[in-house]
Amino acid sequence: MPAKAQKLRVAVTGGSGKIGRETLRALQAAGHQTANFDLRPAPELGRTTIVDCTDFGQVMSALTGVDLVGGGFDAMVHLAGIPGPGYATDAEVFQGHVLSTYNVFSACQRLGINRVVWASSETLMGQPYGAPPPFLPVDESLSRPEWSYSLAKQLGETMADTFVRWSPRMSITSLRFSNVFAAEDYANLPSIQQRPESRRLNLWGYVDARDCGAACQLAVEAALPGHEALIIAADDTLLDVDSSELAARFFPDTPVRGRLEGRQALLSIEKAKRMLGYAPRHTWRDETRGRS
Ligand SMILES: NC(=O)c1ccc[n+]([C@@H]2O[C@H](COP(=O)([O-])OP(=O)(O)OC[C@H]3O[C@@H](n4cnc5c(N)ncnc54)[C@H](O)[C@@H]3O)[C@@H](O)[C@H]2O)c1
Repeated sequence: MPAKAQKLRVAVTGGSGKIGRETLRALQAAGHQTANFDLRPAPELGRTTIVDCTDFGQVMSALTGVDLVGGGFDAMVHLAGIPGPGYATDAEVFQGHVLSTYNVFSACQRLGINRVVWASSETLMGQPYGAPPPFLPVDESLSRPEWSYSLAKQLGETMADTFVRWSPRMSITSLRFSNVFAAEDYANLPSIQQRPESRRLNLWGYVDARDCGAACQLAVEAALPGHEALIIAADDTLLDVDSSELAARFFPDTPVRGRLEGRQALLSIEKAKRMLGYAPRHTWRDETRGRS
């Protein structure tokens, strides 16, 4: 469990996005100073400096200091990027993530910004599970990308291993976020729940954007030694069906490790709970209560 955190100056890339906004909110609420580097502004959360993270010069310039924003960062949360496969061509998605992640890690290394947290993804653990997972619930030991997007995330984690080897003072935490739900996304639940097969591809996982923001804050404060990859998901699945029933129906040949309790998530968040004190506070049940 992390010790009481000092106040930090934190650079956030992609701070105008779904996870980024909640990360800026969480960091600010905890008393940290933040700067947002993104291609588009989020005015309600302070000034955004327009930075393209695929351009190394822009990333270095942003981190060394910008008029009215300053520099001297203690920590980086790197969230900039196209948020999944299919939102651009495969090559665009792949190149964007690989370039940005390298640029951010390398700039941080050169500038002595030793606390780095970045968005990896649940997708690299075998989605869309054309080949079933080797066991359930899946955990961080799995790395089997099937898409260009997930391959870029896997390479990001490989870069993280390498940067901490090159610079042992660096701490890099890869947060393997599940499918992120902002407030408006809960409106899609009825169609998901009517067609459970539509979410077999990600084991019915999800995570509220506010819990993602909290996880980024905890990871920045913890600065775990070396490189760690942690799954960040909700405690439950998106369905109102017991997880043991889902596993038996959709993955009949996959061994289940331990006992699946109720609607327990099929993504293990035990490591994040143990190493960060991560505790998801939001579930779809609270968000949909009272709706017809
Ligand atoms: N949304 C999900 O379900 C999910 C799940 C797992 C991992 N992730 C990862 O989390 C990160 C954030 O995702 P999100 O859901 O907040 O996405 P989002 O699209 O809401 O936010 C991403 C932000 O990055 C910015 N951006 C994109 N390319 C950029 C560039 N080259 N330079 C600077 N800024 C750039 C965008 O303007 C946007 O504000 C991404 O790396 C994504 O791959 C997302």
